[in-house]
Amino acid sequence: MEQGFDLTVRRGRIVTDDAIIEGDVGIRDGRIAAIAAKLPPGTRDVDAAGRWVLPGGIDSHCHVEQLSGMGVMSADDFYSATVSAAFGGTTTIIPFAAQHRGTSIPEVVRDYAERARTKAVIDYGFHLILANPDEPTLARDLPDAIRGGISSLKVYMTYDSLKLDDYQLLDVLELAREQGALVMVHAENNDIIKWLAKRLLERGHTAPKFHAVAHDPLAEAEAANRAITFSRLLDAPILIVHVAGGDTVELIRGARHLGAHVLAESCPQYLFLTAEDLDRAGLEGAKFCCSPPPRDAGSQESVWQGFLDGTLQTYSSDHAPYRFDKTGKLPKGEQTTFKDMANGVPGLELRMPLLFSEGVLKGRMDIHQFVRLTASNHADLYGLAPRKGRIAIGADADLAIWNPDRETRIAHADLHDEVGYTPYEGRVIKGWPEVVVSRGRVVVENNVLHAERGSGQYLRRGSPRFEWPQPRAGASRRPAGLVARALASDKSA
Ligand code: URP
Ligand code: ZN
Ligand code: ZN
Repeated sequence: MEQGFDLTVRRGRIVTDDAIIEGDVGIRDGRIAAIAAKLPPGTRDVDAAGRWVLPGGIDSHCHVEQLSGMGVMSADDFYSATVSAAFGGTTTIIPFAAQHRGTSIPEVVRDYAERARTKAVIDYGFHLILANPDEPTLARDLPDAIRGGISSLKVYMTYDSLKLDDYQLLDVLELAREQGALVMVHAENNDIIKWLAKRLLERGHTAPKFHAVAHDPLAEAEAANRAITFSRLLDAPILIVHVAGGDTVELIRGARHLGAHVLAESCPQYLFLTAEDLDRAGLEGAKFCCSPPPRDAGSQESVWQGFLDGTLQTYSSDHAPYRFDKTGKLPKGEQTTFKDMANGVPGLELRMPLLFSEGVLKGRMDIHQFVRLTASNHADLYGLAPRKGRIAIGADADLAIWNPDRETRIAHADLHDEVGYTPYEGRVIKGWPEVVVSRGRVVVENNVLHAERGSGQYLRRGSPRFEWPQPRAGASRRPAGLVARALASDKSA
């Protein structure tokens, strides 16, 4: 006899990879068991009439319970971050287990695993932040971590305490290619930023708006170009995170036309904020200081186009939550300069609602593009497919049920993070994920959380799944695998 469902989501507009189905989703044992126009009732039913039924989001770039490069602890722990994510329709996060110089990868991984285990309410994996690629780390610890399900790592080209030099970047890219891991790159030229910042401060330019001057778009573009060059040299896949500037979008597009194995991400702050937001009274602009900083309307437009034409594959929050006080943005109170403040903006909860409102409902992107950018591309690139990121038979029943008509005036008081402000305060958006389901559990409904602390599961991730565009005819004369082939053989072989 056909088993019944634990939960049936009824009469929704269900978005799968290639179709929109008006009907029901049947859920059993935490997984999607059936999708059809009409299914039998479950032990419990949720009515989704007039609603979109979408995969729960995957946020593959967020900083949780993490010490920043400047040594500042983020305001959200694994409980508040995952609760906040769930209320915004995200059912999986991939934050960082962050190495700082002097700590080893195994101890870092153990530490973050333990912090998350007792607090997370939705599922999570980890990327590594690699700050010390020494011999034992590259030979032993990194391969072990990758085999253990941490199949991506982030490297920094800026921040004195985190940055890798070019030689180290090449070491890491070579190893990642051999091990089938994806390298995420924070691409900004450290010396350009330091040089500009020093001169700005000497001239008394201390206000938050000078953060955007010091982090010039060319500092981003130069580093991105260098990372792309290294990736091409070694045929090693990279993903450039938090792309902000129009020049960088162009570089990535051009590199992909040449057949480079280059992927990219951008974030709400680069679609919905500009450098002008940093120029607010007093130190208010600090609430908008992230790295790279928001740019101008032209760059916003480039990022939109990059998402629409496939140059950029993932839309993440880069949630980097720092309070507007001595513990975060204002370590020196009123005397804080743009160089002292922790970099980062919050965005876990509003990431998807902002794009749903301004992208889907305003007709800039279709619902399939939205799903790819917020969920399925993350699952493919970070080794979570086919379990996560799609509404498909056998996948985890991670769903967000969106009311497209609900209008919200954004107020931090209604959000669930511990940051104390949002850069989007007062904006009016349409559409909200009113019911959120994680592995078949209704975790958010009627604006109430129904998930226990520690009920999220750790996700051991597999290899990334890439699909590279064909190089444009005649675009590159560089044969694939040139250096990799030479390095794969030695004279005695
Ligand atoms: O300003 C930002 N993005 N802070 C978070 C750390 C990072 O580089 O992603
Ligand atoms: Zn970064
Ligand atoms: Zn980040």
